[in-house]
Amino acid sequence: MKIAILGYGTVGSGCMEALKGTDAEVVRILDKRAIPEVSGILTDDFEDILGDPEIELVAELMGGEHPAYDFVKAALLAGKHAVTANKQMLSRHFAELTGLAEEKGVCLEYSATAGGGIPWLENLRRVSTADDILEIGGVMNGTTNFILDAMQTKGESYEEALKKAQELGYAEADPTADVMGYDVRAKLAISCNLAFGGDMDPESIPTTGITGITEEDVRKAKTDGKVIRLVARARLGNGLIYPDISPQLVGPDSPMYMLSGPENLFYLIGEKCGTLSFRGFGAGKGPTGVNVAADILKIVNSVRKD
Ligand code: HSE
Repeated sequence: MKIAILGYGTVGSGCMEALKGTDAEVVRILDKRAIPEVSGILTDDFEDILGDPEIELVAELMGGEHPAYDFVKAALLAGKHAVTANKQMLSRHFAELTGLAEEKGVCLEYSATAGGGIPWLENLRRVSTADDILEIGGVMNGTTNFILDAMQTKGESYEEALKKAQELGYAEADPTADVMGYDVRAKLAISCNLAFGGDMDPESIPTTGITGITEEDVRKAKTDGKVIRLVARARLGNGLIYPDISPQLVGPDSPMYMLSGPENLFYLIGEKCGTLSFRGFGAGKGPTGVNVAADILKIVNSVRKD
């Protein structure tokens, strides 16, 4: 299948690498910058992709709400399959875009919007078809876990650790979204939509980030044998969903205690299946690129079988 990638940043280039030697042929890359390694297939005009009937799938990996939303919507309207890793955009337009894909009979996959390289949403969706989900949660941001871990285990300052997270490609273009908890808010909203149905407004989620955590807080946690984690949680109670995101003290009895660097841990509690948890790298070029490539290949393979 011929496909196009929108945005050749950390995730776009990771996805391109993961697709090498597969049945997904990247024939166009949209990016405004001159990128020598892909110059032969580079364009800065989305119409080159939308108007090409041979391109059956568009992978939006550019980030930001606009024009990412407009491009995904236009691709779906044109009858093309779409994949996105854009949590902020998808969490704000979830019902519309998933509804549009269904209406047009095309696929919209978005596994990498929550969990970086962890196939969390894929498994959450799978379990929710056969069980009632009572609660979901975990550590859903690699950058903040990297910062808190570096402060606690290496004695680094907040600023030093954030700079490293940016250099390693974990942080968003504007890391405010990571440290204020807005990145987790979008991931939790999308996860809630799959777990409980509905269309949660990410901005309705009570959210506290890590900007108020001091080096003294981290030292005190260590003295008490605990670590600080940015924990997200949403549970069902009396038919209502109660979501919350805040830094929490976590002891060695919790699976979240062991997470190091940019690792994430997602869990779900199902009425019949009990607790399932998924741990791995929640950010970074390689892991996130693989998750996006897996979404693309899922569509390529399912369309081929039809
Ligand atoms: N900035 C995000 C994080 C990237 O640090 O978790 C992956 O979603």
